[in-house]
Amino acid sequence: MGVILGIESTAHTFSFGGVYTNGKTIPSSSALFRPEQGGIHPREAADHHSLLSGNLFKEFISKNHIPVNQIDAIAFSQGPGLGPCLRVGASVARSLSDKMGKPLVGVNHCVAHIEIGRLQTGCQDPVLLYVSGGNTQVIARNGSRYRVIGETLDIGIGNMLDKFARTQGIPFPGGPKIEKLANEWEKSNPSASLDEIILPYGIQGMDLSFSGILTAAVQKVSDGHSLQEVCWSLQEHSFSACIEVAERALAHTGKSELLLGGGVACNERIRDMAKLMCEDRGATAFWPEKQYCVDNGTMIAELGRKMLKHNIYTKLEDSAIDPSMRTDHAEVVWD
Ligand code: ATP
Ligand code: FE2
Repeated sequence: MGVILGIESTAHTFSFGGVYTNGKTIPSSSALFRPEQGGIHPREAADHHSLLSGNLFKEFISKNHIPVNQIDAIAFSQGPGLGPCLRVGASVARSLSDKMGKPLVGVNHCVAHIEIGRLQTGCQDPVLLYVSGGNTQVIARNGSRYRVIGETLDIGIGNMLDKFARTQGIPFPGGPKIEKLANEWEKSNPSASLDEIILPYGIQGMDLSFSGILTAAVQKVSDGHSLQEVCWSLQEHSFSACIEVAERALAHTGKSELLLGGGVACNERIRDMAKLMCEDRGATAFWPEKQYCVDNGTMIAELGRKMLKHNIYTKLEDSAIDPSMRTDHAEVVWD
């Protein structure tokens, strides 16, 4: 059976993943760029990706016992993302495509987060709460497009968590460590109340914002609140805001499935909140395995597979990257 290869390189992660033509997933081999200090510098991340790509590809095919001649097509993230990082993935995809004589499929990274979730969970027509480092969007399908019906007006929620973590000396990615500290606080303070540590709650209509809560959380630590308590409150406030917009989206669209996606969807607390909200209104919450919430090549391969089934390929001359590609840019012709 043929394999679709997927290459992810929108930001900090370079990853090869795959999916068989029947939809069986092949786990990704990934490398995460961790800056020694400060935020992610696009050029440094791109250098990291190009340095590791050769060995990572060998690891992916040998670990999963994939003969190279079994690869039917090469899908890659065409956008959105950091230009220098996207360019590495696109170049690797072009050279593999040329060497193997197999077609290229340029895919929309945001839509790939949706399609891997649908494949893994079996949900049909969800509202997607896409919570990652760079993006925070509430998305629903309307005809042949995934429409963004609410989104952050400033930074992504994951980026907010990472930035807060950095101010406290916690290295990238900060989200998992914040979750751990918040859990510790909750365990030792089972009756903790948000009244004691209120943070800004950034909702404007269907849109969200996170820069105010970031500044306020840093201030709370300076004021003497424990880091664990601030992490707990930061999660409670920012996740509730996302879940509130997601609930409104369910109400407006009349849909009855909520799908979580993106790296922040690894967090158990946001999953709990999603489940509780859905149960309250007779809906169902879904999320893929953690390895498919964070950026990964397998999700790129899965969207490539769906596009290929509808004969959508990318010609070499159309394979330029698009750092500002929008979720609703892609025409969704598959079910
Ligand atoms: P995109 O390009 O889609 O915006 P991304 O580049 O942010 O994606 P992802 O791998 O989807 O990459 O998400 C990474 C983000 O997820 C980081 O901000 C990280 O802190 C956050 N994250 C990962 N695990 C957790 C967790 N357990 N709790 C909260 N946040 C998490
Ligand atoms: Fe992503």
